[in-house]
Amino acid sequence: MKIRGQHYRTIWPSPDARSIEVIDQMKLPHLFTTSKLSTLDGAADAIHTMLVRGAPLIGATAAYGIALAMREDASDEALDAAYDLLLETRPTAINLKWALDRMRNALRNRPREARSEAAWFEAGKICDEDVETCRKIGEYGLELFREAHARKKTKGPLNILTHCNAGWLACVDWGTALAPIYMAHDAGIPIHVWVDETRPRNQGASLTAFELGSHGVPHAIIADNAGGLFMRQGQVDLCIVGTDRVTANGDVANKIGTYLKALAAKDNNVPFYVALPSSTIDWTLNSGDLIPIEERSSDEVTKMTGRLPDGSVATVEISAPGSPAANPGFDVTPARLVTSFITERGTCPATEAGLRGLFPK
Ligand code: MRU
Repeated sequence: MKIRGQHYRTIWPSPDARSIEVIDQMKLPHLFTTSKLSTLDGAADAIHTMLVRGAPLIGATAAYGIALAMREDASDEALDAAYDLLLETRPTAINLKWALDRMRNALRNRPREARSEAAWFEAGKICDEDVETCRKIGEYGLELFREAHARKKTKGPLNILTHCNAGWLACVDWGTALAPIYMAHDAGIPIHVWVDETRPRNQGASLTAFELGSHGVPHAIIADNAGGLFMRQGQVDLCIVGTDRVTANGDVANKIGTYLKALAAKDNNVPFYVALPSSTIDWTLNSGDLIPIEERSSDEVTKMTGRLPDGSVATVEISAPGSPAANPGFDVTPARLVTSFITERGTCPATEAGLRGLFPK
C-alpha cells in the first residue's frame, strides 16, 4: 500500500540480504518509521514487543527470524533453538507456528551449507504468497460488498464496522478484513467504515484509522462500546474482522472485544464476516475453548500512550492508583455467530464442512 505516494510492504529484506526492515508499529500513527532487524533475537523481540503484529505478519517475521538465525549457524540444533524461541513470542496467532513449521520443513533435509540461502528464499516466498492470498480475499470480499450495497434499501454508503487492525499493517500487504474495503473503495462503491478504537492497545484508533486515512477511505473512530447502539440504529450494514486462529469447527479467536460485536450483530441481523488466509486455520483443534489466550501486561489497561500538544509522545496513568487490572488479548467468537468466512479460495459457512469444502487437504 502507499504511504505518501510510496509503495510499502510491512516487511522486506535489505539489499545485502543480511537483515530485514519492518515498519515500526509501536510508533504509529504519530511517526512513520522503519526498523532494521539483523538477528534472530531482534526478530523475536520485534514480535514479542509488538513492533510488528497481526497474525500473518507475525508469521512472516518469524520466517525471516529463522533465515537470520541460519546466517549465523545452520546446524540442526540452531534451527530447533530458533524455532522454539520464535514460537514462544506470541501464543494465540497460529500463523506463527504455520510459518515456523514451513521453514523447518523446507530446511531440515538440506545440507547445512545450503540452508541459509534456502531460508531466505522460503521466507520471501511466504511474504509473496501472503500478498497474493490477501489480494484474493479482497476480491471475494469485494463481491459480497457489491451485493450488500446493491441490496441496501436506504441511500448512502455501505456502513462497515471493523475491530482491531486486520489491514495491510497486520499482513505483508493488502490485509485480510481491510482488503475488500480497499478494493470496494477503489471500485467506486461508496463505503464508510466504523473503526472500533480497540482498547487497550488501540490498534483500531492508531493503525486501522491510519491505514484508511492514508488510502482516503471515509471512516470514523468509535469507542468500542458504541457498535451495539449503531447496529440497533441501522447504521451498520455489515461487520468484518480478521482472526488469529480459526479452529476446525469454525470458532474464531480475534482481538478482545470481537465476541461482543458478533453477539450484537446477531441480535440485530447484521452479517458478521471473518476474513482469513488458510494459514490461520488450526486443523488440530476442534473447539475455540482450546485456543491459548494471550494474557498481556496490566499496564496496557491502566495506562495510555498518546501525543502531547508539543508533539512528544507520552504514556500516562488513567486508572485509580493501586487497582489491579486483567488483560486478556483475545476472545473466541463461536462459529454460530459468524455469517461466513472469506478466504483466498472463496467464501464458506463457518463450519468444519465449509472449511473442508474449500481446503480438502
Ligand atoms: O495483538 P495484535 O495486534 O497482533 O492482534 C491482531 C488482531 O487481532 C487481528 O485482528 C488479527 O491478527 C487478524 S490479522 C489480519
